[in-house]
Amino acid sequence: MDLLLPPAKALRGRLRVPGDKSVTHRGLILLSLAEGEGRLLYPLKAGDTLSTLRAMQALGAEITEEGPHLRVRGRGLRLKEPEDVLDCQNAGTLMRLLAGLLSGQEGFFVLTGDASLRRRPMDRVALPLRAMGAQIDGREGGRYAPLALRGGGLRGISYTLPVPSAQVKSALLLAGLFADGVTEVVEPVPTRDHTERLFRHFGLPLETEGPRIRTWQTGPFPARDLVVPGDFSSAAFFLVAALITPDSEVRVEGVGLNPTRTGLLEVLKAMGAELEWEVLEGEEGEPVGTITARSSALKGVEVDEGLIPLMVDEVPVLAAAAAWAEGETFIPGLSELRVKESDRVRAIAHNLRALGVEVEEGPDWLRIKGGVRPGATPVVEPFHDHRIAMAFAVAGLPLGVRVREAEWATISYPGFFEDLKGLYAAG
Ligand code: S3P
Repeated sequence: MDLLLPPAKALRGRLRVPGDKSVTHRGLILLSLAEGEGRLLYPLKAGDTLSTLRAMQALGAEITEEGPHLRVRGRGLRLKEPEDVLDCQNAGTLMRLLAGLLSGQEGFFVLTGDASLRRRPMDRVALPLRAMGAQIDGREGGRYAPLALRGGGLRGISYTLPVPSAQVKSALLLAGLFADGVTEVVEPVPTRDHTERLFRHFGLPLETEGPRIRTWQTGPFPARDLVVPGDFSSAAFFLVAALITPDSEVRVEGVGLNPTRTGLLEVLKAMGAELEWEVLEGEEGEPVGTITARSSALKGVEVDEGLIPLMVDEVPVLAAAAAWAEGETFIPGLSELRVKESDRVRAIAHNLRALGVEVEEGPDWLRIKGGVRPGATPVVEPFHDHRIAMAFAVAGLPLGVRVREAEWATISYPGFFEDLKGLYAAG
């Protein structure tokens, strides 16, 4: 479905974005393992996390809707062997976390996904999980899904992440809950730490020492309610929209401000963005607060490569900001973006060119020369990727924009375009 957004003259207002995708996936998984009933409050109900809900139901958890919340009756560590394959659809996080979780379970499991997910590398979890004792096979020797997995009999290993990936870290920590001995993940570069925070929330074994994160076999643990904060990655679209649209001020409330997620704020600040944020609650679990963004005269910047893992999903919307900035923006460290829901380096370059922006694309970097060409309504090509659809809808907003296959946004944010239109200032 094509969607036409008229030119935004000004954006004003405040909003709450849907629940965090990463926390919702993990919350559903851990509550399914817990003993007794617990609620996931304000979870994300979107394509990716509904795939997790269905997978956990197929593995024997009882999950029911309660208004905006979900009630989960867990299995007390032992999941059920499902009768059919588990379809992760578009959700890479789900497939990698399940590979770890199911490596610790007795039984036979097959994981598959949509065409995009079946092209994404799975050897990054298959190799260390095999070293722990899991049997994992798949296309091209386990590089690609479908994956066939037989779990059980794991032993702990120490594993240094070859690429920064919270998904791989989390897969190994989940497997470690069922392994003999200690499982240690060493992350040379920090990545999002939701799994570690949730292990603490549920009282699961966890020890951290600098870049080393350790876990070991758990006994049964009781369910506990979990509040899901608003997703910073979803908020980011509205922040950049306000920065690049004249006469705008947008405030996002109840949003997660976990420092392992908010690298974008630092980069936008360095570009001259008028941005303010404040943590208001949740110091012990996930920090939550408010972010305000106002129209700003942005200038290009050289992004610090070390920040990329702390803003890995925000690079498309950073590119949207760079398109409207004065001067050049250089973004290094993008090799992981080649293997996301789409090849995001290529998708960003394509959509910037549709805006008349000059862009140079390297194997793992982008050089963007700020300057959008006024004139014809740009057309956004999402490449079957939710974040590309939303980031470039934002990039074209001051001009008016046509978004092809806009329904891709429903993977992480079903009401995105309605929320965006709700900010158009009257008059
Ligand atoms: C996620 C980790 C990141 C991120 C993804 C969600 C997670 O992926 O891009 O959207 O929830 O752990 P990588 O682990 O591949 O960096």
